[in-house]
Amino acid sequence: MHPVPEPEATMATPSAHGRGTGAGIRLSGIGLTFHGAHGAPATRVLEGIDLEIAPREVVALIGPNGCGKSTLLRVLAGLLAADAGTVSIDGQTVTEPDPRVGLVFQEPRLLAWRSAEANVRFPMELAGWSRERQTARADDLLGLVGLREYAHSRPGTLSGGTRQRVSIARALALEPSLILLDEPFSALDALTRERFNLELLRLWERTGTTIVLVTHSIPEAVFLADRVVVLSPRPARIVADIRVGLPRPRRLSDLDSAFVSSLAADVRAHLVDTTDDAIAMEEARMAIPAGLTPRDLPRRYAETDPGTPALFDPFAPEDES
Ligand SMILES: Nc1ncnc2c1ncn2[C@@H]1O[C@H](COP(=O)(O)OP(=O)(O)OP(=O)(O)O)[C@@H](O)[C@H]1O
Ligand SMILES: [Mg+2]
Repeated sequence: MHPVPEPEATMATPSAHGRGTGAGIRLSGIGLTFHGAHGAPATRVLEGIDLEIAPREVVALIGPNGCGKSTLLRVLAGLLAADAGTVSIDGQTVTEPDPRVGLVFQEPRLLAWRSAEANVRFPMELAGWSRERQTARADDLLGLVGLREYAHSRPGTLSGGTRQRVSIARALALEPSLILLDEPFSALDALTRERFNLELLRLWERTGTTIVLVTHSIPEAVFLADRVVVLSPRPARIVADIRVGLPRPRRLSDLDSAFVSSLAADVRAHLVDTTDDAIAMEEARMAIPAGLTPRDLPRRYAETDPGTPALFDPFAPEDES
C-alpha cells in the first residue's frame, strides 16, 4: 500500500477550504478484459483509452449502459488492474488502491450501525489518525456539507439525498486530490438533483480537487464539467472529448441557453448510435416538472455566494417542489 498521507494538523486546511490540491491524471492505452469463469466467454470492456486530466479539472464520462464506465473508475482508483496501459496520478503510476482518491457511488454505502459522524470518521480510523484529529476533521466536513445537526443520526433515519451528502463528506475525509463519482445523483428526483449539482460545484470550489464523474444525464454532464468525454458501447473507447467553455461559477440559468443546448446536441450526436435506455430515462427524469419552465428553477433554488455553505438545507425534504 502507499503510505497514507499524514493529514495537516489544523482544520482550516488548505484542501478543506482552499484551492490547488487537485491531481493531474494520465491514462495511457488502457485496455481491460474480464475473463469469464468456468469457460464463460471473456468480455473486452476497455480498449485503448488515452485521457489526460489537468489538476482541478472536472471531467464527465458519459456512455451507454454496460460500456465500461464504472470499470474505468475502478481502474483509475487502483481497485482493478488494467491488462494494458498505465494510470498515473501526479506522475506516479497507480498499482493499488490509492489514498489520494475519494470515491462516491450511486448508493451511499454507509455503515448502518454508525452515526453520520462515525461514517465520516471511518476512513480516518483505518488510516490510524488520532481520535482528536478524526473528530475535528469530521466536524469540519459535516459543516462543509451542511450536516452538523445530523452528526449523531444513523443512515437509516436520513433521506437518500442526505445520506449521499454524508458519503461525499466521507470521500473527502483523507483530503483526496481526486474524487471519482459514479452516478452519484441518479437516485434523486430532478429538482433535488439540480440542487446537488450546484452543491457539488460549490464544494469543488472550496476543496480544489480534480473530479471525474460518471453520469447518464447530458445536461448534468454539461453543467458540471470542463470536458465531457463520450464513450462508445463496449469495449469502451473515447469517441468524443467535448470542451465546455462555460465560465465559472456556473448557474442553473446557464442550462437555459442556446450555447448549452448546442453542446448537449453535440454530446447526444456522439451517442445516437447507441440506443441507450439509461440516457433516455435520465432525460425523462431531468425533465422540468409540469407547470414550471426552466426559468423558474434558478429562482426556486437561489444560489448562494461561493464559500457559503448555506446552500445545503438539511431540513428541506428531498422532494420539495
Ligand atoms: N467483475 C466483473 N467480472 C466480469 N464482468 C464484469 C465485471 N464487472 C463488470 N463486468 C462487465 O463489464 C461490462 C462493463 O461494466 P461496467 O459496470 O463498467 O459498465 P457501466 O458502463 O458502468 O454500466 P452502467 O451504465 O450500467 O453503470 C459489463 O458487461 C459488465 O457486465
Ligand atoms: Mg456503472
